[in-house]
Amino acid sequence: MVLGHPILRLYSAAMNESTADKSTANESTANKSTANTSTSSPSDLARYWQLEPELDFLNHGSFGACPTAVLEEQSRWRAQLESQPVAFLGRGRAELVDHARSRLAAFVGADPANIVPVTNATAGVNAVLHSLGFHFRSGDEILLTDHTYNACHNALRTLAQRHGLQLRVVPVPFPVTGPNEVVERFVSAATARTRLALIDHVTSVTGLVLPIAELVSQLQERGVDVLVDGAHGPGMVELELEDLGAAYYTGNCHKWMCSPKSAGLLYVRPDRQELIHPLVISHGSNIRRVGRSLFHDEFDLPGTIDWTAFLSVPAVIDYLDNLVPGGWPEIRRRNRELALAARAVLARVLDIEPPCPDAMIGSLAALPVPGWSYDQDTPNQNPITERLVERHRIEAMFSDWPALGQTILRVSAQLYNDISQYERLAAVLPDELSDR
Ligand SMILES: Cc1ncc(COP(=O)(O)O)c(C=O)c1O
Repeated sequence: MVLGHPILRLYSAAMNESTADKSTANESTANKSTANTSTSSPSDLARYWQLEPELDFLNHGSFGACPTAVLEEQSRWRAQLESQPVAFLGRGRAELVDHARSRLAAFVGADPANIVPVTNATAGVNAVLHSLGFHFRSGDEILLTDHTYNACHNALRTLAQRHGLQLRVVPVPFPVTGPNEVVERFVSAATARTRLALIDHVTSVTGLVLPIAELVSQLQERGVDVLVDGAHGPGMVELELEDLGAAYYTGNCHKWMCSPKSAGLLYVRPDRQELIHPLVISHGSNIRRVGRSLFHDEFDLPGTIDWTAFLSVPAVIDYLDNLVPGGWPEIRRRNRELALAARAVLARVLDIEPPCPDAMIGSLAALPVPGWSYDQDTPNQNPITERLVERHRIEAMFSDWPALGQTILRVSAQLYNDISQYERLAAVLPDELSDR
C-alpha cells in the first residue's frame, strides 16, 4: 500500500518495508544536507525527545511533543490499566485522577476543587459555551478577536445560530503596538448586551501573549465574564488562575507542558460552577460522591476513556523540572529568549520590524511575510509549509489568516531547539518565497 501524502509515504514505507518507498524517504532526508549550504542541529536536549533527527522541528506549538521518558511512563499506566481494567478504571480511577488533578492545579495556581480534566482546549471551550448558551437570551453579545482560533470561532458561530446571539469581532492589528492597544479595543467594544468575552491567552497564528490579567479585570468589572482559551498557556507562561479570577480558563497540557496528547484542564470559578456541564453527560449526574461537587462528579466521569495521558501529567511536571537547572521558570525563560532570537533572525531576512513588542512574546514568534497577501475567506495552511518539509526537512508554520489578509510565518521555541535551526530556515527562505 502506498499512501499519498509524503509523511504517509514515509509511514507506509516503514510498515511495508517497500524498497521504492524507502528510496523516497532517503531522498527527502538527503535534501536537508544538499539543498543549501548552511547547517543546523537541534539542542543537546533533543536526545530526550523522539523527534526525527534530520528534521528541524520549529512547530512545537501546533501539537506539542512529548519526551521519551514520559511516553514510557504513559505506557506503564496503560499496562496497569490493561492488566486490571475494572480495578483501574472502575475502583481506582477516582483516586488516580485526583492525584493528577492536584499536581496540575498546583502547577497552574488553582484550587483543585476548581479544576476538571478535559481532553483538550477545544473541548473545554465547547463545554463552557454550550452550557452558557442555555442562559443567554436572543440578542446577547459575545466578544472575540479576529485572532481567535478558528475551531473556537466555529463553536461560537454554532452557539450564535442556535441561540440568536451576536458575535462582535474586535480587530487586533498585526503589527500591534502593545498590550494597551488590545485592552483599549476590547474594553471599548463591550456594550450593555455583552455577556461573555472569549479571549486567547496566546493567539494561535500570530503567537501574541495577550494581556489577560488586565482584560479579565476590566471586562469583569463591567459585568462581562471572560472565558480564556489558554491552549498555549500552561508551560509557556506562568499561571496563577485563582489570582487571575477569570470566570473560565481552559488549557492544554500536551502543548507547552509536553504531556502525552489529550490532556487538558478546565478551570471554573466556584460561583459559576453550577452553570457548567460537560458535553457528554454520563453517570456523574446522579451517582454522586460524598463531599464532592457536581462539577467534579460530572466532568470526572466522561464514559470509558484512555486516562493515561492525564495520569502522566505529574510525571512530565517533575521530569522537565529536573531536566533543566532552574526548572520550569528557567524553561519558560529559555524558550522565550530563543523565540526572540529566532524572530530577530527571521525579521532580518524578511526585512521587516518585529510586529509586536517583546512583552507580547512567549515561546512563539510570528512574522507577516511581505508581499504575500491573499483574499480567500477560509483560514488555510499555506503550501510553503509542506514544501519546506519536502525540500529542506524544516517544519515551520505558514498560515493564510483571513482577518489579516496576510500570510504569517510562525516558529516555536522548545528545549530541543537551537538557534542554528532558525538560521537555516532564514537561509532557505528568500529562494522559497520567490518560488511562487
Ligand atoms: C488558541 C488555540 N486555541 C485552541 C487550540 C486547540 O487546541 P486543541 O486542538 O488541543 O484543543 C489551539 C491549537 O493550536 C490554539 O492555538
